[in-house]
Amino acid sequence: MTSKVFVLNGPNLNLLGKRQPEIYGRETLSDVETSCRAEGARRGFDIRFHQSNSEGQLIDWIHEARDVGAAIIINPAAFTHTSIAILDALNAFDGPVLEVHITNVHKRESFRHRSYVSLRADGVIAGFGTQGYVLALQRIADVLGLSTLREGSAA
Ligand code: DQA
Repeated sequence: MTSKVFVLNGPNLNLLGKRQPEIYGRETLSDVETSCRAEGARRGFDIRFHQSNSEGQLIDWIHEARDVGAAIIINPAAFTHTSIAILDALNAFDGPVLEVHITNVHKRESFRHRSYVSLRADGVIAGFGTQGYVLALQRIADVLGLSTLREGSAA
């Protein structure tokens, strides 16, 4: 069965490409979704790509992933720095969790240096721009041992 990988995006990421492009770049969330779906197809993943400005909705998707998801990639946006509720939801998920930030949050304001989600994440990608999502999918493929690109290799 195809592995479902949830790619979850938090508040204001719907404005990607328009919001502070000098910080977040000009690529839109729809561009990111297209890249994730292309990488997902290469890796044999069924990508569940979502964005919400609401904490509760993000938590509901994490709960859904508990039932059907193989892995979660999450850019919780500002909820990264505030949400114990998202941390708790992720703690109730058994599979791999990767945290993605478009920007290098450690180079920015000090309130962005703390991440509740990092207390659960198996890995964090920050500062690679929107490419971070594709890198996260590549890592998930390795972690799940499902990398179709590696099939047939001697390794
Ligand atoms: C972000 C970083 C967060 O601090 C910020 O609130 C965001 C986006 C990033 O992708 O760099 O909205 O998660």
